[in-house]
Amino acid sequence: MKKIGIFYGSTTGTTKEVAEQIADCLGVDEADVHDVASTAPSAVGDYDVLVIGASTWDAGDLQDDMATFLDGVQSLDLRGKEVAIFGCGDDSMRDTFCNSVGEIYHKLHATHPDFIGPFNNEGFEYNHSESDVKGMIVGLCIDNVNHADETLSRIREWCADIKQEIC
Ligand SMILES: Cc1cc2nc3c(=O)[nH]c(=O)nc-3n(C[C@H](O)[C@H](O)[C@H](O)COP(=O)(O)O)c2cc1C
Repeated sequence: MKKIGIFYGSTTGTTKEVAEQIADCLGVDEADVHDVASTAPSAVGDYDVLVIGASTWDAGDLQDDMATFLDGVQSLDLRGKEVAIFGCGDDSMRDTFCNSVGEIYHKLHATHPDFIGPFNNEGFEYNHSESDVKGMIVGLCIDNVNHADETLSRIREWCADIKQEIC
């Protein structure tokens, strides 16, 4: 069975909560859910599947702890590992909604993992998001500010997709 590690960067706790809900859905132990603020980038080496998520801040920037963590991960070779991306944002930030998802994707691209878990952004209202890479939303976007009632169903649907992809 493939070993799944969840890595999150969260400033006010929303992405942490979402990471824990994803862990529940995927059956991942608490010990394999990592706050990247206190995790060495080399920890990704322990897993076959990496579920990586962070929020978007400021003018559409990747959450600080995750940006620092990925600076370290970028020097690793993730060939053979599967990576699924999630992120939290606020769709009233119309031009930068959930940019974190796209930022993570771009930062990891040169490490050559197999990206899994594209999803949809149905129900959100925005003009632009870096999560949209050439017409494909490259991960799960969550908005607990304006659409909290949809969070659990989106997580469940995304986790079901991931389980199928990694089996
Ligand atoms: C000052 C500020 C700037 C933000 N900028 C963005 C943004 O550009 N795009 C976006 O989607 N969300 C933005 N957000 C919303 C946060 O990403 C959202 O509240 C998220 O759930 C925070 O998650 P965290 O607590 O895990 O850090 C911003 C929030 C604040 C307070």
